[in-house]
Amino acid sequence: MFTSRPETRPATVEVFVDGVALRVPEGASAAAAVLLAGAGAIRATPVSGAPRLPYCMMGICFDCLAEIDGVANAQACMVPVAPGMRISRQAGARDALAPFAEDAR
Ligand code: FES
Repeated sequence: MFTSRPETRPATVEVFVDGVALRVPEGASAAAAVLLAGAGAIRATPVSGAPRLPYCMMGICFDCLAEIDGVANAQACMVPVAPGMRISRQAGARDALAPFAEDAR
């Protein structure tokens, strides 16, 4: 008559938001990890330095640009978390071609 319930909590993975370890549900986005971390901003705008947080969570607004595993300007809401992922807030503009700089040599 009574059966035990299956484990209902989702599996979690450990990521690092600005160097601070955090466990987030598997399948969550990097932007969601930043929000779960309680960060005040994920980026600062290049012109005024105004703080921004992820807004649309579906790839439209670009307010979630962050550095993910060393790659700047990543759309954090479109990147699923992976174990050990390092997510860093970014301030101002980044060189869009920086990831390809080694290829140009
Ligand atoms: S939160 Fe809008 S593009 Fe990522």
